[in-house]
Amino acid sequence: MLKIENLHASVEDKEILKGINLEVNAGEVHAIMGPNGSGKSTLSAVIAGKEEFEVTEGSIKLDGEDLEDVSAEERAHKGIFLSFQYPVEIPGVSVTNFIKTAINESRKARGLEDMPANKMLKLIREKSELLDIDRKFLSRSLNEGFSGGEKKRNEIFQMAMLEPKLAILDETDSGLDIDALRIVANGVNKLKSKDNAVIVITHYQRLLEYIVPDFVHVLHNGKIVKSGGKELAIELEEKGYDWLKNEAVVE
Ligand SMILES: Nc1ncnc2c1ncn2[C@@H]1O[C@H](COP(=O)(O)OP(=O)(O)OP(=O)(O)O)[C@@H](O)[C@H]1O
Ligand SMILES: [Mg+2]
Repeated sequence: MLKIENLHASVEDKEILKGINLEVNAGEVHAIMGPNGSGKSTLSAVIAGKEEFEVTEGSIKLDGEDLEDVSAEERAHKGIFLSFQYPVEIPGVSVTNFIKTAINESRKARGLEDMPANKMLKLIREKSELLDIDRKFLSRSLNEGFSGGEKKRNEIFQMAMLEPKLAILDETDSGLDIDALRIVANGVNKLKSKDNAVIVITHYQRLLEYIVPDFVHVLHNGKIVKSGGKELAIELEEKGYDWLKNEAVVE
């Protein structure tokens, strides 16, 4: 589904990603870990096509199509979903209205009519029940006064409604209580299917106790220095990132 080869990316002439190789297939959950500043959020922004980063070398392909000339908006319409590490508040726009607009925008871009209101309502009902989301929550203003857990709930609800091919969740972890982590994990586990894939970015192994990844990659200084199964996350938790700094020299 996603194939990244020798990806280099810079911001303001500073190279941040220094040769990333990553392949994600349908049905897989990948976790990306790594210390602060290693390039995790940059990698997700570059996959999503954010303009502030310049790809200087290498390629990103989605289902065989090179994304080089595909805008962030078009990538979203092709099924790449990126959660926000720092979500914006939109007073006066409810959780439901925001997602309705997003869905219809995406349909329009694909040459489809707006989703009929009854179908939209049914979808909202289905997904909110699946994720245990309260009706009252759906009518609140987007992110306004949301707690950490509520932000996560909204993010997962958006993901459930949009049914992305590839979801990238950039989790700060810090400040998230165990309930918020569970909301994310629950959502990912419930929405996971053989047709979609998820990349979860996280600092701590804690989240991965709830979401069991098929692969774990460690990013350090703009490169993936180690990949493995879920046991790698446990090893990292025990040994810390310093252990990898030594490993990285060997690679
Ligand atoms: N817009 C920008 N302008 C300048 N430098 C940037 C910009 N965005 C990212 N960087 C730099 O790129 C490096 C990688 O940042 P990035 O946000 O990708 O790290 P991260 O792995 O997500 O860290 P964290 O774990 O703290 O979220 C950092 O040194 C950061 O300062
Ligand atoms: Mg980050």
